[in-house]
Amino acid sequence: MGPLLIWALAKSGVKRNKAINILFMFVRLVSLWLTIFPMAYYSIQNIPLTDLAKEFGTPLYVYDADKIREKISVLRGAFEGIDLTIKYAVKANTNLSILRLMRENGVDMDVVSPQELELGLIAGYEGSNITFTPSGVHFSEIEYAVSKGAIVNLDNLSVLEKFGQTYGSSQPCLIRIKPHVFGGGNEKIMTAHPESKFGISIHQKAEILAIVAKYNMNVVGLHQHTGSDIKDGKTFEQAASALFDFAFDFKDLQIIDLGGGFKVPYSPEDPGVNMKEVGQIMSNAFSSFCAKYGRELRLWVEPGKFLVSESGTFLTETNVIKRDPVKTFVGINSGLNHLIRPMMYGSYHYIFNASNQDASKQENYRVTGYICETDTFSFDLKGKENERLLNEVKEGDIIALANAGAYGFTMASHYNSRFLPAEVMVDGGVARVIRKRETMEDILRNQE
Ligand code: LLP
Repeated sequence: MGPLLIWALAKSGVKRNKAINILFMFVRLVSLWLTIFPMAYYSIQNIPLTDLAKEFGTPLYVYDADKIREKISVLRGAFEGIDLTIKYAVKANTNLSILRLMRENGVDMDVVSPQELELGLIAGYEGSNITFTPSGVHFSEIEYAVSKGAIVNLDNLSVLEKFGQTYGSSQPCLIRIKPHVFGGGNEKIMTAHPESKFGISIHQKAEILAIVAKYNMNVVGLHQHTGSDIKDGKTFEQAASALFDFAFDFKDLQIIDLGGGFKVPYSPEDPGVNMKEVGQIMSNAFSSFCAKYGRELRLWVEPGKFLVSESGTFLTETNVIKRDPVKTFVGINSGLNHLIRPMMYGSYHYIFNASNQDASKQENYRVTGYICETDTFSFDLKGKENERLLNEVKEGDIIALANAGAYGFTMASHYNSRFLPAEVMVDGGVARVIRKRETMEDILRNQE
């Protein structure tokens, strides 16, 4: 490559000495990039991942508090000039320390169960900062949310009717609309298409209006959430404009909630959502809606992944290397019980050997877990089980999976009667346990 570059430069009229200098500069830039780039992965706030693994043990979820703050500020910056409320979709990560961090940074909550709501209250939230967006729950859960001062987002005609009967105009509510828009990283996480169970179809406006009028209901907001892992500004625009067209018949709106779903970059080559661009598109659409509606409304968004995914790294240890005639397996001390996203959605998580930064010797490995069924972590970007090129792995090496802050721990289970991992937060350069590793007592609790 070097001589080729010198030849190409010389051919385009650059003198040989200058060409060599340019080549040196190029090499220095590349090596600088190679030094800085892994650093961003191999440590959190200057604490090496291997030190964290040694101190707290593995498997371990580690979160970088600064990253969460950074993402909050990127999101706010993208909606500059708009009266924006961020409603963190806590299902992504409900650790109390993360909820407290969100609260300290002026971020409200969106919850989907009484338990998430309770966690929010324990983390210091007021009920009035919490939205309850349930799907298919018993009405008693809605009554519970109302009793705690949360605002409810209704997504079913029969529930809307019951809410009207029970509360009339005394309780404000939002209505979740299904705009019949396709968007999301895979079909399991698309929520606004015609066959989705979520939201009331945009074609049932007459029925909605009849119920609202019958009980003189206080509908203060309309909501839609298209899906997860959406990058394309057009999809957000399409869903928003379907909701705006729908909204004119609701005269007392104060809030438009456009949901979450902003895609995060799963691999170093993946740019993720361009938040500035998408924020601009959504802000413009929202402002022109408000102008036509005749009143300034508040805009809500409900991101989960965007706020917490990149803050999280999942640290595991290599139990075994298995050299098979066809493949080499790296068997780590975790499995689909702790991080189910690859097996459930074919999700890509960037994987690297945190114990070995020497990229001069690499090998293709299939990274698998210790669960007694297939539990591959190394899916490719097309959602297929595959191998990953890693710096040479030895038994005992720490294998790290990036982008594990969202839907990692919260989707973990006790399958194979394994303990749930511990969780650590790094803040102000200090690492502290925010959830202890489980013991046999946790497995036995509540059993006869
Ligand atoms: N709002 C509502 C009503 C939602 O249902 C969700 C996610 C969100 C907001 C936040 O979406 P996010 O910004 O995190 O994409 N377990 C899957 C993702 C499921 C998302 C469920 N609803 C995964 O790991 O990819």
